[in-house]
Amino acid sequence: MKAKICLLPGDGIGPEIVAQAQLVLGAVAARFGHELEFESHLMGGCAIDDCGDPLPEATLNACRESDAVLLGAVGGPKWDDPRANTRPEAGLLRIRKELGLFANLRPVKPHASLVGASPLRPEIVSGVDILFVRELTGGIYFGDKGRRKSAGVEAAFDEMAYSVPEIERVVRVAGKAAMERDKRLTSIDKANVLEVSRLWREVAANVVSNEFPELQYDVVLVDAMAMHLISRPADFDVVVTGNMFGDILTDEASMLPGSLGLLPSASLGDPGPGLYEPIHGSAPDIAGKGIANPLATILAAAMLLRHELQLEEEAAAIESAVSNIIDSGLRTADIAGKGAALSTAEMGAKVVEAVSG
Ligand code: IPM
Ligand code: MG
Repeated sequence: MKAKICLLPGDGIGPEIVAQAQLVLGAVAARFGHELEFESHLMGGCAIDDCGDPLPEATLNACRESDAVLLGAVGGPKWDDPRANTRPEAGLLRIRKELGLFANLRPVKPHASLVGASPLRPEIVSGVDILFVRELTGGIYFGDKGRRKSAGVEAAFDEMAYSVPEIERVVRVAGKAAMERDKRLTSIDKANVLEVSRLWREVAANVVSNEFPELQYDVVLVDAMAMHLISRPADFDVVVTGNMFGDILTDEASMLPGSLGLLPSASLGDPGPGLYEPIHGSAPDIAGKGIANPLATILAAAMLLRHELQLEEEAAAIESAVSNIIDSGLRTADIAGKGAALSTAEMGAKVVEAVSG
């Protein structure tokens, strides 16, 4: 098969980790006889420096013309000035919206030989295998927002709104995923306070009872979920949430495996390319040192092969290579503790070697 992949290395450690993922994809393609074509484009702070726009038209067009997009990370202190007229994160929100990527899949499955790296006790973390499905192009992130003054007092507002079709389509993605996993689905809301959540709860229940009657389905309030993720995370299978609740809960859940450096994500939606990225940020403090963990991005590349190109065997080859490498005790600095650590490129080379068969 032939496919065109648009690389958006971005800022900070982004270019270092995307380079390793590209090498791994190249090795998998060579082994299985596929032809992958790569094109790299500017996005984020580097694009602001280049042309004042975090998501230049040329980058967006290149994404649209590709089969899939692999993103490193965007942002950094250089572009953090709140008075600046644009920010790297604005590019990320725009690309999600422009490509119609309404469903963000964030799997959280701590690696058995790394349970000791988690801040939680091993007996709480072991057996955790959650797939978060976060709505990504609606809710409070994209509502009307602004400043207003009444009687001389300044205030700000961000509107949270969801339409019935927006809720239906993301719950449908989550329902399908649950059918292929352990057939359990949990929907998160704040229906004891928010009207949007009352609609979410009603619509989610309808989708599940009409389309996924076999699922074991329950509803959890977002504040309670924050607690359950720490006290009994192994009880959940697929979790579907709105945009902001999903943002917060997935950062919390990312601590279960002990390192952000291991978690990939996929953003899917309308027909057209999906966006694959590690869930961690651009880590400006370690950028350029060659010590970042490339495994989350490499695992994001595996998700790309699976979800975008339907190359299940190839995706599994990357995932089992990564598992074996971790099992064999090899570590980058973020998870090495006091032990020896591989560099970004050394870790990438280990995966390349393993997938080359
Ligand atoms: C994420 C990030 C983004 C978000 C930021 C960088 C805009 O936190 O992907 O979770 O809030 O969606
Ligand atoms: Mg976040």
